[in-house]
Amino acid sequence: MNLSEYIEGKRDAHLAELCEFLRIPSVSTKSEHKPDIERAAQWVADKLRRAGMKTVEIVPTRMHPLVYGESLEAPGKPTILFYGHYDVQPAEPLELWTSPAFEPAVRDGNLFGRGTADDKGQVHIHLKALESLRDVQGKLPINVKVMIEGEEEVGSVSLWDFVQKNKSRLQADALVVSDTSMLAPGVPSITYGLRGLNYYQVEIAGPAQDLHSGVFGGAVPNPLTILCELFARLHDKNFRVTVPGFYHDVAQLSRAERKALNSLPWKEKEFRKTVGAPGYCGEKGSTIVERLWTRPTLELNGIWGGYTGEGSKTVIPAKAHAKFSTRLVPRQNPDKIAKQVEKHVRKLLPKTVTCKFEVLSKGKPWAAPYTHPIFKTALESLQQGFGKKAVFIREGGSIPFVTQMHDTFKVPCVLMGFGLPDENAHAPDEHIAVENYFGGIRSIAQFYQGLAKL
Ligand code: BES
Ligand code: MN
Ligand code: MN
Repeated sequence: MNLSEYIEGKRDAHLAELCEFLRIPSVSTKSEHKPDIERAAQWVADKLRRAGMKTVEIVPTRMHPLVYGESLEAPGKPTILFYGHYDVQPAEPLELWTSPAFEPAVRDGNLFGRGTADDKGQVHIHLKALESLRDVQGKLPINVKVMIEGEEEVGSVSLWDFVQKNKSRLQADALVVSDTSMLAPGVPSITYGLRGLNYYQVEIAGPAQDLHSGVFGGAVPNPLTILCELFARLHDKNFRVTVPGFYHDVAQLSRAERKALNSLPWKEKEFRKTVGAPGYCGEKGSTIVERLWTRPTLELNGIWGGYTGEGSKTVIPAKAHAKFSTRLVPRQNPDKIAKQVEKHVRKLLPKTVTCKFEVLSKGKPWAAPYTHPIFKTALESLQQGFGKKAVFIREGGSIPFVTQMHDTFKVPCVLMGFGLPDENAHAPDEHIAVENYFGGIRSIAQFYQGLAKL
């Protein structure tokens, strides 16, 4: 039996098994889900053994375990390191899901559930591709190291420590990741650039305690109002970030890259349909694709303080809070940006309040050439798996680990993603197109097979 016939024959079994994985609510940010995290790690380890990994370990960390497996039975053949994550984002708000987040369901050719696209579904693609190769050929055609973590959605806190301690063991000819998106339906994609991410939190404090807004209003500073004024001043009328120096190091796009990115089969109409806003905004002088993938941004992610309950309460809150982030692009330095942002925020605030400024995480951007021969194998495998032309894209999301790996090991990083931008990652009704899941298995099996000939 050939590989694609074998994969075809296992469709129902594969989907059923993925649903089993999706039913484990492995939410990394909530301690109440610790047992589910442990269960998910165990589940991944079992499946790695089933896929032919000779050694499989569940590595405890200070937070959530990491699953590491190896199959090194193809002497003289390339070695790849596959990276993915088994943890997921919280499912809240639960009432906005059409079917429950942890009870996977198929509707209209899509599989719904938390983690379907980000990243359990994509991890499962690799597990099943490896298993298919093993079952059809008796053993894996290349050497494979697999590292699947449980802390990606909380910033991969322990991962780097593990990598540093296992540097020689993790050596590989390439890093392979499936945690990104395809450009559009029917357009399999290889991502060669991601934005970096710095995350911040501020606390603005005014009066020593909450105050009656009638008794005190008019004569004391309101921290919430001041917070709103602060964020209103972080962009100018051309939608540029006002932090001095913010754009200073931003890499200019070459003319060739600009042309390539802007001639991709990307449709503004589809983008607007996905977003569903009454109107749009963005930095002057850049196309939407450039804004999303190659320009830095500053976004307010959450703001709280004062009274938000039922009805009304007349109060001047003592404190106001906000979470915000900057997406970074090549040549911007996360440490330098964090300092510039803090300095500017402090400068904009009046003396009537104090400010606690925290940097919760920092992460470098990444963009790399795709000239290494492995990218040709990847492109051809996607084209075979999907029967469609594949493209090279950049994306706006962040996987800080990819940059760290690229910097440390200096190996090509091949990002083949099978999600779609409108599949609601991190949101209610997250899903993956069932056909892209199977196209993924066919492509990845083909890719690992093809690497044996490299
Ligand atoms: N899989 C995403 C990253 C991603 C999304 C890359 C879309 C490309 C396109 C990952 O799980 C994620 O959500 N990353 C976070 C950052 C992380 C440090 C929590 C992000 O991009 O916000
Ligand atoms: Mn992810
Ligand atoms: Mn994510």
